[in-house]
Amino acid sequence: GDAWKLKDHPKLPKGKTVAVIVLDGWGEAKPNEYNAISVAETPVMDSLKQGAPEHWRLIKAHGNAVGLPTEDDMGNSEVGHNALGAGRIFAQGAKLVDLALASGKIYDGEGFKYVQECFEKGTLHLIGLVSDGGVHSRLDQLLLLLKGAAEHGAKRIRVHALTDGRDVLDGSSVGFMETLENDLAKLREQGVDARVASGGGRMYVTMDRYENDWDVVKRGWDAQVLGEAPHHFKDPVEAIKKLRQEPNASDQYLAPFVIVDDNGKPVGPILDGDAVVTFNFRADRMVMLAKALEYEDFDKFDRVRVPKIHYAGMLQYDGELKLPNKYLVSPPEIDRTSGEYLVRNGVRTFACSETVKFGHVTFFWNGNRSGYFDEKLEEYVEIPSDSGITFNVKPKMKALEIAERTRDAILSHKFDQVRLNIPNSDMVGHTGDIKATIEACKAADDGVKMILEAIEQVGGIFLVTADHGNAEDMVKRNKKGEPLLDKNGNIQILTSHTLEPVPIAIGGPGLLPGVRFRTDLPTGGLANVAATFMNLHGFEAPSDYEPTLIEVVDN
Ligand code: 3PG
Ligand code: CO
Repeated sequence: GDAWKLKDHPKLPKGKTVAVIVLDGWGEAKPNEYNAISVAETPVMDSLKQGAPEHWRLIKAHGNAVGLPTEDDMGNSEVGHNALGAGRIFAQGAKLVDLALASGKIYDGEGFKYVQECFEKGTLHLIGLVSDGGVHSRLDQLLLLLKGAAEHGAKRIRVHALTDGRDVLDGSSVGFMETLENDLAKLREQGVDARVASGGGRMYVTMDRYENDWDVVKRGWDAQVLGEAPHHFKDPVEAIKKLRQEPNASDQYLAPFVIVDDNGKPVGPILDGDAVVTFNFRADRMVMLAKALEYEDFDKFDRVRVPKIHYAGMLQYDGELKLPNKYLVSPPEIDRTSGEYLVRNGVRTFACSETVKFGHVTFFWNGNRSGYFDEKLEEYVEIPSDSGITFNVKPKMKALEIAERTRDAILSHKFDQVRLNIPNSDMVGHTGDIKATIEACKAADDGVKMILEAIEQVGGIFLVTADHGNAEDMVKRNKKGEPLLDKNGNIQILTSHTLEPVPIAIGGPGLLPGVRFRTDLPTGGLANVAATFMNLHGFEAPSDYEPTLIEVVDN
């Protein structure tokens, strides 16, 4: 209907091909040896920077600017792509869960009531990422939920812990597990039979995404549901300490284990009549497990035994699929996204990335919605990612293939907007391998080059930005910004994202000479980008969108 109709921009024309390029994990920081972007050969991104301040600037990509609880929260791809696509700032999962726990409303909802029905006879299982990363989950929220569940009648609780080392320092899983164990011990003193039942590293157990590798979810299923894993321990802290000593082990890739009793019997398989809560608030790496737990028809792996459970997610992970059906906290309602507006105004749209980031430029971009708005006007292309490897082994990833497909889409003249995510600086940055991350940044820059050349050929416009920082800082620093050393005098590698701002650059032969970045929005962030590219398509953004970053001066 007419509600979708966008006003014409008073000065900017329609019909230009606009490429929206998102470099994943590409922040801006002072050049130094731990800034993989500054060390890498990145001539294209360097040359764009020369366009400052008219055609290059920095924007905020963390904290309140992307709907996170505090300014100490680093950015991440979910909230970053949500903000980029939606053009507004929504209170995100982390914050919504905080509020629901603080007010106690979480225990009044339909979702909690549903799992509570099992407390009398069954066990409550809590599955999720145990760290204070704040990207997928938060340990303090888990601890509150444990306490609250016990107060609301849970008598037997089992935690299935996934270790992090990706949103937090590698090795920190030991401390998090100790904290968790402490709280579980307190519950035991109060007569609640509460313990850790299984564990494993997030990248090897359970938390795959976008169906890149179902074996990851299967390994989790075996440990959590069936109580089967290659390693048996009596104590979860000891489990982590021991398994970290295996060759190539790290928190992210820790082998799966189950906790057993004195007779060697697993203490917490998931059985008929039990309740399960997946306590991650972020969707992408929980959707696959949610499907395995919830779907009657399921053929991704042999589940062997499918327990009859009452299952709820911390949030509903996919509103379109209504998955899971029950959840403790309602997700942000991200409506009227730029993608939907543009398609409904006839903008033909192409989106592309490789598997590990494909949902970022589709699902997250469109407000956590899968599928097309209008099949006739849209094409989403997923380049299969390598699976079963850590990306420092192949730091080029599929950057070239993504760029080629997008180049072809531009040259085909079939699309008005092409948007893509180039994952390298993020995915390789998360491995903590600095040398490989430097190669990754170069590969990303090569990808940008190919897109810019195609835009040049068709007389189009480009907008290059990033979703959050990562590769620009590979070392943990103290308050003064100096690299932190561990007790052996080695630097502490930073595998996580950062608090840094990200660059945004515009250009291309289709950009009118008078278009430049405004100077009156110094605190602009990712949510200002949608209005900006809507303008570049010749439209005014809806009035409740965050303001555009550009102005048009007559010259
Ligand atoms: C991950 O899921 O890989 C990390 O926790 C966050 O990375 P992303 O936000 O860049 O996807
Ligand atoms: Co990342």
